[in-house]
This record gives sequence, structure tokens and C-alpha cells, in this order.
Amino acid sequence: MADPDQNQGQSNNGWVNLTELTTMKVEAYAKALVQVDRAEQLVEALTTLKQTKQNCFVLGEGSNTVFIQDFDGVVIRIGIKGIELQKKSNDSFFVKVSAGENWHSFVEKCVDEGWNGLENLALIPGTVGAAPIQNIGAYGVEVQNFIESVEVIDMDTLQTQQIAASECGFAYRDSRFKHDWSGKKIVTAVVFRLKRSNEVVLDYPALKAAIEHDRGSGMEAIVPKTIFDAVVAIRSSKLPNPSKIPNSGSFFKNPIVEAAKHDELKATYKDLVSYPYQDRFKLAAAWLIDNAGWKQKELCGIKVHQSQALVITNPNRMPGTQIKIFAETIKRDILDKFGVELEIEPVLV
Ligand code: EPU
Repeated sequence: MADPDQNQGQSNNGWVNLTELTTMKVEAYAKALVQVDRAEQLVEALTTLKQTKQNCFVLGEGSNTVFIQDFDGVVIRIGIKGIELQKKSNDSFFVKVSAGENWHSFVEKCVDEGWNGLENLALIPGTVGAAPIQNIGAYGVEVQNFIESVEVIDMDTLQTQQIAASECGFAYRDSRFKHDWSGKKIVTAVVFRLKRSNEVVLDYPALKAAIEHDRGSGMEAIVPKTIFDAVVAIRSSKLPNPSKIPNSGSFFKNPIVEAAKHDELKATYKDLVSYPYQDRFKLAAAWLIDNAGWKQKELCGIKVHQSQALVITNPNRMPGTQIKIFAETIKRDILDKFGVELEIEPVLV
């Protein structure tokens, strides 16, 4: 670490402390930090970085990033704001949202305005700009279903581009922004195509059960606000609030396995939780971790959350390297016990 004695602001050698900039609250330092509140400022900052040949790393609210070492370059924090209803069609609203808007506040506004579809994605931490990168998804909905296009700045040309959703390579918790476009295209805004109809997605068993439980037999008149409230209630009861207990949400993706592997596991573990996924199966990583006995386990003050085994919490603000060691230990154990390889979801920098 550049200066372990310093907890806030700049360290002695002038490097900037990043601890408060990620929800995992790991201590790490960068050469400089640039806060960008307008798209033009971003182009200016990138031009300077190119001229001076410095590395950069782009951060929103830091809910999916864990620094495992100091960053020898400039961290750019995207705070560009703005929500604009661009046009309406018979069945849709087209809404352009700047990358620095808070995701949950935007979803709340959608519910208020009757721009429907994103209500299942309430309370996901992070910014709008981060949403397409990992194709955020929850309770039966993936954001890709509501993205029309993504506005980016291309790092080679420093020009703005509009990329159609169909070009983004969206898949479960994945997109080209995590692969061939990583470090090459910076998201500045997302254009959403949201529904005018009140039709809701109620496929996810835990969501349906929660609403049924609240309503008894009256399942009529379920509107986006009903879903929004139920998702907020479920997430608040199961997931640690990152502003109170440092964490990065799900620390692992749900692994996708071949049907033969799924059947072999299901024969041994009758209560294995899995879902058909194209011609394969998605396994609940939380079930694997929980059933391997990791729930509530702790190593050097880093913990597996007591009500969702997919979440690793860092209440004692331990370093990113320790978190990585803990996650690798869990991965090895799941591979030994079930023959299934887990993939870490947050970006380890
Ligand atoms: N389960 C356990 N033990 C646990 C938690 C869950 O056995 O500690 C089992 C439950 O029986 C449940 C199943 O695992 O049937 C699935 O659990 P859950 O409904 O909580 O969903 P998940 O697959 O663990 C995914 C997302 C979450 C999202 C929920 C709801 C990923 C990596 N995670 O979790 O996303 O909220 O579905 O749709 O796909 C996040 O990304 O931060 C996040 C929380």
C-alpha cells in the first residue's frame, strides 16, 4: 500500500486513497482521481491521459469493483447526471439516462412515471452506466431486455458512439464491455426502451411467494409498484446494505453446467437448486456454498453473509488480497466437493 497510515484523502506520496470509493471498502491508492460530471470533461480527461500515456480505470459507485492492489494510474469517477424522455411510441417510452445516475433512484422514478419493466431490478447498488457492463439481473429480469442502445466514448478515437443493444453481446451477467471492449469503450449513457403496459414479470418463485404471502389469495391488480415494493422488501431482508456492511453483492456467478453434470449432481443431492438455461442448467451457487458449510464462516474478519451465502462481507475493512484469498478458498472447496468451478463476479483490479 502506498500509505497505510492515511485513511482519507491523499497519502504522503500524493497518491489518493480509494477506500471510500468502493462498497467493499478495501484500502488502496491510485496516482490520481478525476471526478467527471459532464461528458466533455471526460473527453478532456481522456485526451490528457492519452498524451501523458497514463493508465486509467473507470469507476461508478464501486459496487462491483474490489481493488487488490494500488492502481498505478488515474481513477476516473463518472458522475454525469441526466434523465431525458426522448420519445414515445404506441407501446414504449425511450428514456436516455446518463451513466452517473444512481440505478435504484432511476428505477424508482420509472415506477413513479409509469415507465415500466425495470421494477424487478429495484435496489441493485451502483450506477446506470454499470448496468449494461454486467447486464444486471434479478427476480426474472435482465436489464438487456430493456436496453435500446448504449452511448460510449471510444478510447482510440475519443468520439462518442451509439451502440445498439444487439451488438453488446449480452448474456447472463456478461457483455462485451467485460471482454473485447474492456478499457476500450467508456459508457456515458444508456437509452432504455420501457413499456407503457402494466404487465409484470412474476416468474421468480421467491418473488411470487412473497407477494402471495402478502396478499393471501388476491393476486389480481399486481402492478409494477407491487413488484418494486416486494423486491425492495426481499432484498432488504436478505442482502446486507453496502452502506452499513461493506460488500459487493453476489461474489460469485451462478455456474452454468452441462445437463450430464447437472443430472449427476441431482442424483446425489436431491434438493440441489437449479434452473434450465438454454440446453444446459444454471446452478444456485448460494446453494453449493451453503451446503458446503460456508455460510457465516469467517476468515481474518471476512465473512460469508448469514442470509445469502453468495455474498462476502468485509465488516473489518480487510485488504482486497485477503478477500481474494478467501474467495479462492471457497472456490477450491466447491470444486473439490461438487466438481463445479465458480467464477468470481466483481472485477478484481
Ligand atoms: N440459497 C441457499 N443458501 C443461501 C441463499 C440461497 O441455499 O444462503 C438457495 C435458495 O434455496 C434459493 C437459491 O439458492 O432457492 C437462489 O437464491 P436467490 O433467490 O437468493 O438467488 P441467487 O441465484 O442466489 C441471484 C443473483 C442475485 C439476485 C437474485 C434474485 C447472481 C450471481 N445473483 O442470486 O443478485 O438478487 O438472483 O434474482 O445471479 C447481486 O448480483 O448482487 C445479487 C444479489
